[in-house]
Formats: sequence, structure tokens, C-alpha cells
Amino acid sequence: MSDAATSISRESRATRSARRLGHLGILPIVEIDDARQGEDLFEALCEGGVPAAEITLRTPEGALALERLITLHPDALLGAGTVRSLEDARRMIDIGVSFLVSPGTDEEVVVYGVERDVLVLPGVSTPSEVMRARKSGATLLKFFPAEAAGGVEMLKALAGPFPEVAFVPTGGISEGNLASYLRLATVVACGGSWLAPRELINAGRFEEISERTRRAKAIVEEERGGRDDNS
Ligand code: 3PG
Repeated sequence: MSDAATSISRESRATRSARRLGHLGILPIVEIDDARQGEDLFEALCEGGVPAAEITLRTPEGALALERLITLHPDALLGAGTVRSLEDARRMIDIGVSFLVSPGTDEEVVVYGVERDVLVLPGVSTPSEVMRARKSGATLLKFFPAEAAGGVEMLKALAGPFPEVAFVPTGGISEGNLASYLRLATVVACGGSWLAPRELINAGRFEEISERTRRAKAIVEEERGGRDDNS
């Protein structure tokens, strides 16, 4: 086996998910009211150049949509959002999600994700929370709610004591402020619902979702020198 092949086979699943997320630079956060919409939604995101989504557990159909999509696209970067308990984490890992995202930091959820080799992004918005999340074993943190918690300036301030900590900011991010977040060295990717809002999904406006995704992807490429590796 070549050196490169050996190092790929040694890469853990969680590390691979984090790397893929970083290469995409954006993460559509989706609320689904009808699991049957999942396939059209995912196709629209792929059309826009982003074969990834965080589907939240805020709606009863979210888990079902995820399960169906994972069966159809086992290699896609599909994760569960709004994971608020160990039970949610277990259920989602059992259906094969690539990652879990929580609004806050639940140590049990982080430890369980590490044990099962699934990327967990616990939510943080203060220095103490960053320290707690890191102590639990998290390597990538969701900075939430990004705009309300101080946005780009807060992330710059956190980079002082935590220069090595990687964040995925979400909450209030849009096409208008995406570039300002992507410019920060500690930002791996930005998440948000602006790419595929619930209203557009329910109205069947999938073209508009592809267009929004395409425009966001162009911003990522502009900020990151056209890197487009989703391997
Ligand atoms: C999240 O779950 O991270 C946020 O609800 C997404 O926030 P947004 O709707 O402002 O993008």
C-alpha cells in the first residue's frame, strides 16, 4: 500500500467528516416537515455543489428524512442537528449519521460520539464552554448563536486564548456576512438555514435552494482560493 493510501485508511471516520466539512466550507441546516421532501432537497444542494446537510431533530420528520437519505446516499455528509440528549445521539448514530450537532455542550453526548467515532459538534458561546467542550473530547465546536453571541468579533477574541480551536459558527449567518466569518483562521465552515429555509422547501422552490447554495459556494471559493476538494 502507498504511504497516501495507508494514511487514508488510518484516518478515523470522525476526522474524515471534519475534513470534508472544512473542504465544503458551508453546512446547510435544514428543518424538514415532510420526510418525502428530503430527496428533492438533497438533490438541490448537490446541484449547488454541496452534497451535505445538517437535518435538525426540531421536526418529527427530521430523523425519518435523515434515515431515508443515508440509505440512498451512504457516502454523503449527512448529520443530525439539535441533538439534545444521549438518547438522540444513540438513535442518530445507529441510523448512520456522519456527524452530530448540539446547540450546547452535553459531555455525555460528546464522549459517546468519540467512543463511536462519529464527529460531534457541541455548541459553545463563551470561553468556559469552549474549555468544557474541549475537555469532553470535542475537536470541532459549533459557535452558537453566532451573531447574537458577538459574531466575528467574539471569534477573534476567542482566538486569543484558544488559537488552535476550530469553530463552525451558526446562527444569523447569511450570504451578506459569510465571507467575514470564512476569513477567520479558526473557522472551518459556516452553518445556516439561509441556504435551504423551511419556507422554500415547503413551497417546492428547489431551484432557488440550488442557486443560494451555488452563490454561497462561490463565496467560499473566493475566500479560500478556489479549493474544492470533497474527498
Ligand atoms: C442552528 O441550528 O445552528 C441555527 O438555528 C441556525 O441559525 P440560522 O437559522 O440563523 O441560520
